[in-house]
This record gives sequence, C-alpha cells and structure tokens, in this order.
Amino acid sequence: MKVAICVAEAVPFAKTGGLADVAGALPAALKIKGVDTFVIMPGYKSIFEKDYPMQTVSKGAKVQMNASENIEFDLYRTTLKNVDFYFVRNDSLFGRENLYGTAQGDYTDNNLRFGFFSKAIFKVMELISVVPDIIHLHDYHFGLAALLLHDIKNNDKTTPYKDTKSVFTIHNLAYQGVYGSETLELCGIDSKYFTSEGLEFYGNVNFMKAGIVYSDKITTVSPTYSKEILTSRYGYRLEDTLKSRAEDLSGIINGIDYTVWDPAKDKAIFANYGINDLAGKKKCKDNLISEAFGMAASGAAGAAGDAGDDGNIHNGQNKSEPATNPDKPLIGMVSRLSEQKGIDLITGAMEDIMKNDVYVVILGTGEEKYHNILMEMQAGYKDKFSLTIGYSDKFSRQIYSGSDIFLMPSNYEPCGLGQLISLKYGTIPVVRNTGGLADTIIDIKNPEDIDKGGQGFMFTEYAADAFYIALKTAIDFYYDKRLWSKIVKNGMDCDFSWDYSAGKYKELYESIGRGRKI
Ligand code: ADP
Ligand code: GLC
Repeated sequence: MKVAICVAEAVPFAKTGGLADVAGALPAALKIKGVDTFVIMPGYKSIFEKDYPMQTVSKGAKVQMNASENIEFDLYRTTLKNVDFYFVRNDSLFGRENLYGTAQGDYTDNNLRFGFFSKAIFKVMELISVVPDIIHLHDYHFGLAALLLHDIKNNDKTTPYKDTKSVFTIHNLAYQGVYGSETLELCGIDSKYFTSEGLEFYGNVNFMKAGIVYSDKITTVSPTYSKEILTSRYGYRLEDTLKSRAEDLSGIINGIDYTVWDPAKDKAIFANYGINDLAGKKKCKDNLISEAFGMAASGAAGAAGDAGDDGNIHNGQNKSEPATNPDKPLIGMVSRLSEQKGIDLITGAMEDIMKNDVYVVILGTGEEKYHNILMEMQAGYKDKFSLTIGYSDKFSRQIYSGSDIFLMPSNYEPCGLGQLISLKYGTIPVVRNTGGLADTIIDIKNPEDIDKGGQGFMFTEYAADAFYIALKTAIDFYYDKRLWSKIVKNGMDCDFSWDYSAGKYKELYESIGRGRKI
C-alpha cells in the first residue's frame, strides 16, 4: 500500500511545533510496518540553506490555479530513514523567514500559499508517477486537497485516482484557515462547494472544514480530543460538521521518536543519563540553573559547558547569587506562547508560585501579548524566574533534562508531545485534564497513586488556583526524595514510541484502501 503524507512541517527540515515531530517520525514508523510512505511538504528557504543531499526532480512545473493563473515550482527530493521527502519550492510563497506568519499574525496570503500547495500535490504525484492508495493530509493547510480529490473523482472518469482515498488528520482545530470568499476564484474552486454542507463557513471559505467534509476518514491525535471536539467548548464552531462525520472520526494518540528524544544519547544536554543512573540529570539541572540565571554551577556538577552559544538571551541572569542551589525544585516549560497553552494560568498563579523556594525557567515564542506579559512578570522576580523568548531546540533539551517539573496547563491539547518528552527525560509534568494530556498522564493525588504508575499531576478546572494546587502538590512530593525518585522512574519507564500508533494508522488505511492487506 502506498501512502502520500502531505504536511506543512517535518523534523528535521522545518518545525514550529509537534506537527513537525509527528511528520518526522510517523512515515518511517509506517515503513517499518510495511506501509510504503513518502512525504510532500513545502520547500522553505531554511531547508535549502542547510546541506541536506538534495536531488532535483523537476524544474518549472506548473500548477493551474484558475482559468488565468499558473504558479510554477521546482521539485526536490531527499531521503531520510528510508523515506523520500519531496519539497515543493516556490520562493515567493515559501521563501520567507517563518512558516506561517510573524508574532503580529499570519501571512495574509496563506490562502494562496496553502491553496497552491493543495493543488501542487497532484502535480507532484504526476511528476513522480505515483498513484497512492491513500493521501494522508495533515491540518487545515491541506484541507482543500480533500475537496480536490473528491472533485477529481466525481468529474473525471479517467482519473488515475479513482481508488485513492483520503485521510485527514486534525492536529489543532483552532487553526482552521478561514479566508474570504475570493479564495474560491483565487484557487479555482467551483462555487457549488460554497455551501454550508461544503467549505462555506459564516460567509467565508474554511480549509479545515473542507478537509473534514470531503475526506474519507478523519482522525485526530488523541482519543479524548476526538470526543472533545464534538462539543462547543472545544469544537471552535466546527462541532456540528464534525458530528455529521462522527462515524468516520477517530482518535489515534501520537508517539514520540526515541531516536530523537533520549537523555542517554542527546548531544545537546550537559550530561547523559538513563533510568538506572540519574547522576547526569543532576548535572543537567545544576548547569541549567547556572545557564538560565547566570550563576556559578554548584561545583559538584562541573562547568556550565557551551549552553550559552544558542544565541538566546536568558532574561533572568543574576550575577548577585554566587552559586546554584540544586536542592530547590526547578520548574521548566517549553511552549508555543498561545492561548492554547494555558499561559494565563501561569501568569495568574505566578505570585503564588514565587512564594515557594523554586526556580522557574520558561522558553517560548508566539503571540506578542504573551511575550509582553511574561517579560513584565519576569522583571519582578529576576533571581527565580528566567524567561527566554525564542525558539531553540538545544535550550529546549536543556530544560527537558535539567528541570524537575514540567508545566503544560493547556486550555486544550489535541495530543501534546511536551509531556511525553519530559517524561522520557525524568521531568514530571503538571497538566490539565484535557485531550492527549488526559490520555497519557497518570495523576498522582496521594502516595498510593505512585504504585499505580503515577507520573504526573493533573487538574481539571481551567483556573489559576486549580493549576496552582496541582503544582503545589508536585512541589510537596518533590521534597520526599524516595517518593520523587519513584515518580521519576515511572515517567522514564513509559513507552510512547510510534510502534503502537503507526499500527493504528495502518489498520485505518487498510480499512479504506484498495481492500487488500499490506
Ligand atoms: P504544539 O504542537 O501544540 O506546539 P506539542 O507539545 O505537541 O505542542 O509539541 C511541541 C513541540 O515543539 C515539542 O517538540 C517542543 O519541544 C517544541 N517547542 C515548542 N516551543 C519551542 C521553543 N520555543 N523552542 C524549541 N522547541 C519548542
Ligand atoms: C498540534 C497540537 C498538539 C499535538 C501536535 C502534534 O500542534 O497542538 O497537541 O501534539 O499538533 O499532533
């Protein structure tokens, strides 16, 4: 069975969040299971600035956008972990600083960018002479492609895609790709689709809705989120459309790639460690404090290494305190700074958090309003709160490894990979009871829960005081060294590798593919 995976970002080529982690790992995990996958993604400028071995597949291919407009692209290929990645390169659309927009908002021509891309995937398949059994489309960026496949199958009796099926995976329902109705003309979409049963959405075009309406199967990235999105609290005005497709909707939890996320092998962290020898984790903590707060490492742990060369200014550096104190709990967070991630709960609880003898280290980037409010808060707690506004894979790994507690109090969370990564690094998550967090974290309320595999602290109500109670419980457990080391072991012992989830996708493909077993 052949599967084309169409996605807007993939590790190691381009990443803003967990979507890239998924797209960098799932195709190879499927290959191991005998599903023949390849990936089609935009050829962002940054990809061509690195030295991946690239083959030129085609130059000057044309995509017919509408009756009068063509857009050209060049097609490149590289192979990673046995999977072919195809890059659609058009520098005026994808040769930009960022993937989707800036802190001030999305690029205003994202309808053209992703409309073009949804069309280009059919040209790519023609150029490489592949007719896949399944086109697996990810997020709103490729929603239009589900409509296009549906349209081709209904209108072109000679299409090679007559048996090709589509799977549409929702990674985040809040980002829908909603654009003015002129998008129909821009992308050459027949106005007969502009109805409330089609891609029309309150007078606009909605790419996410197109994906939900016209794909053969819909998945989302955790079982709990697949139910939550049928409600108005989480459905972002698409709950009724989703309800109408409920029979074809399922939730498959994400995995993480333990070849990419492993404290025993991670080259970016200060010292390697594993479940049976946590000495390295202590060094990571000591050096993280020293790096984030500009203090001298406590001595036992050695020098700070080269963490400072990530180009970030860690806004918390305080030369007045002479040495780190590795006995205090270190609370870390690595996150996009958006409404989704519960930043309001963190700022709301900050005063209470700061009453504790703790270090807080946050790395994140996203909406400007969160940058500003966090910077303002940080200025009041310089010796306890370090804030780095930016994106740094290296520093993120130093936070995952060096922290004791990891914050993920999300307002909603389709799956979440941060909590899975932190567990692997022995850093215990405090999470809200929602989406994939609910599906992966085993809550600890009392010591007996630790014997039941407990590896995190959970709260339910989206409120700063509920969050703070869960965090305070974690801090209290931290001081019981014997119990804490059991919790850390429970976390590191978890297996969220891709094997299980890739198997679930394979079953789904088989249920709609050409009826043949792989
Ligand atoms: P989402 O995809 O909603 O952002 P996930 O938890 O699924 O959330 O995945 C987030 C991924 O992005 C993780 O790999 C995390 O380490 C990474 N990440 C998020 N923010 C940053 C940042 N500022 N710097 C480096 N990595 C980040
Ligand atoms: C989205 C979601 C996140 C999920 C990721 C990968 O960005 O916000 O919860 O883990 O996609 O599926």
